[in-house]
Amino acid sequence: MSILIINIKELLQVRASHVLKVSGKDMKHLPTIKNAFLLMDNDTIIDYGSMDNCKNITADKTIDAKGKLVLPTWCDSHTHIVYAGNREQEFVDRINGLSYVEIANRGGGILNSAKTLQNTSEEDLYSQSIQRVKNVIKLGTGALEIKSGYGLTVESELKMLRVIKRIKENFPIEIKATFLGAHAFPESFKNNKKGYIDLIINQMLPKIANENLADFMDVFCEKGYFSIEDTDTLLSAGKKHGLVPKIHVNQFNAFGGVALGVKHRALSVDHLEELELEDIEVLKESDTMPLSLPSCSYFLGIPYTPARQLIDAGLPLALATDYNPGSAPSGNMNFVVSTACIKMKMTPEEAINAATINGAYAMGISNEYGSISKGKKANIIITKPVPSYNYLPYAFGENNIETVIIKGRITA
Ligand code: NIG
Ligand code: FE
Repeated sequence: MSILIINIKELLQVRASHVLKVSGKDMKHLPTIKNAFLLMDNDTIIDYGSMDNCKNITADKTIDAKGKLVLPTWCDSHTHIVYAGNREQEFVDRINGLSYVEIANRGGGILNSAKTLQNTSEEDLYSQSIQRVKNVIKLGTGALEIKSGYGLTVESELKMLRVIKRIKENFPIEIKATFLGAHAFPESFKNNKKGYIDLIINQMLPKIANENLADFMDVFCEKGYFSIEDTDTLLSAGKKHGLVPKIHVNQFNAFGGVALGVKHRALSVDHLEELELEDIEVLKESDTMPLSLPSCSYFLGIPYTPARQLIDAGLPLALATDYNPGSAPSGNMNFVVSTACIKMKMTPEEAINAATINGAYAMGISNEYGSISKGKKANIIITKPVPSYNYLPYAFGENNIETVIIKGRITA
């Protein structure tokens, strides 16, 4: 089935298909075509251009997008969208003065979510998670990275990854699975950290590889969680099973995690709320994507990733939601793009680039997603009528997504 969109007020993020990411000054540039058409056949974009060149084109279905913008769907390259229950009480505890770290030290935080998930059946976990997946598709997300890491036992980590696999099989959006068994040390291993790392390496990883349940390997490299040495050991073990590193670093403390990520050729280094000059220097020599999670900073009241410092140093930047029950209970990429503009002083062009092509790069899929390019997947957002693309981040909290097309099919 072919779909032709005509009279598009402005078609955004039009690029040659070989562009895989944009960095530094290039991030300020968002290539567009005004008064455009877009043609897709089955799941693929096959043509686009100015309406002047649309005369003889026909399709099974034609959509008139007068006054509306068309852009590629968001690529949300960092989520923990598979989880059980919620942590509303910790939210209230933080309002009343406790910090995220204090709550975690009292057995709340990740361990709280792990306890709930361990007591939730695979079926129930799947049905809770797909409600969120359906919602984020409506908000324009067409590719999603999903992490494990609320299991923390062999059985429950496998349960999470099997749920991710099932989501992959049942939803049209592109899904990448990340193994994050090294998200926190379980209570029972509090005094035997090596024992838990051995469990990950000797029990979890072989089973995950055997069932082909993960694409990437993540570690929460942070004080009180996994040290540089632990992270080094774990990433090396993951690589032996073909898992590409993508790590949580510099959320609360900067102590060399970025350099370690670069050493391991991580696809992305995520969070970066705390950043040292040497982190920027080491990233300049790498293909690793720096990745920022502004909803987490917003929700926890911690610093935002210094986006200007990174981009002005010539580096790329990707934006994602971090959708999780503890530090970012929202999967709304439109809010992320707005917040990046408002709080991180990214221009709308930079933020849209960071949430599409660079997000796709951070998932290793920018050869197929993240821009309007011939041959790429037909993952398309049609907005409501809006004055310009600046209006999208400007009108924060307003939903301006009208239609979402995933792999050439109208999905929302
Ligand atoms: O990315 N920092 C580690 N992991 C998550 C939060 C996990 C949680 O609080 O449940 C994050 O912010
Ligand atoms: Fe995270």
